[in-house]
Amino acid sequence: MSNKKSWRAVDDYIVASLFEPDPVLDSVLAANHDQGLPAIDVSPAQGKLLSLLARMQGAKRILEIGTLGGYSTIWMARGLPSDGRIVTLELDPHHASVARSNFDRAGVSDRVELRVGPALQSLAALGAENAGPFDLIFIDADKPNNPNYLSWAMRLSRPGTVIVCDNVIRDGAVLDEDGRDANVEGARAAFSFIGGDKRLDGTAIQTVGAKGYDGFAIAIVD
Ligand code: SAH
Ligand code: DHB
Ligand code: MG
Repeated sequence: MSNKKSWRAVDDYIVASLFEPDPVLDSVLAANHDQGLPAIDVSPAQGKLLSLLARMQGAKRILEIGTLGGYSTIWMARGLPSDGRIVTLELDPHHASVARSNFDRAGVSDRVELRVGPALQSLAALGAENAGPFDLIFIDADKPNNPNYLSWAMRLSRPGTVIVCDNVIRDGAVLDEDGRDANVEGARAAFSFIGGDKRLDGTAIQTVGAKGYDGFAIAIVD
């Protein structure tokens, strides 16, 4: 039973049992596909978790690094109160324009601020504007920059901020120490950062599902 087919079937079961039908998010994924975006968004079950984390956290300000077509952004925006805001950072102008139309489609544009450009530049701008602190920060962009993004996340946080870093297990390749894969190195760097920063108390959860075998790290700022 323990194979990719059953992981997907169980994800489908989770969605069918616990979620309302969601034509809006279906159309977001269809638009992403039609516009040639890679299907590397979080799964529905993971998106719902991000939304629940936002609610559990009482988040009013969320920061996301890596928008793609805005699928995860929309899930988190749905976890915000009406006066809440999510700032999401995306390098690729095409991804950003698809995301913008998806935000309109999902009726969350009033809660989303999308900044286009290299995230490190956008983060520096947010720092200069004193845009923090954010209550929840989701890191899901170019993996080699994970330590830089975590470092900015600390600067834009407060005690109690929750930081989630996606894709840190990578089919178990996180154990590979040879340094040949920059994405794996980025995953390992996330572990080193969280393990090495005394202000961060964290764990990581391995996941299987529609998106295969991966996982996320989650930490709270003390
Ligand atoms: N969070 C999204 C998936 C993000 S995929 C979801 O779950 O729906 C990663 C995204 O990070 C891609 O759109 C990619 O273009 C973007 N990205 C890559 N390098 C980046 C950088 N330096 N700055 C900002 N975004 C970057
Ligand atoms: C990749 C990136 C992601 O954010 C993800 O969730 C899955 C895969 C990737 O770059 O391969
Ligand atoms: Mg990801």
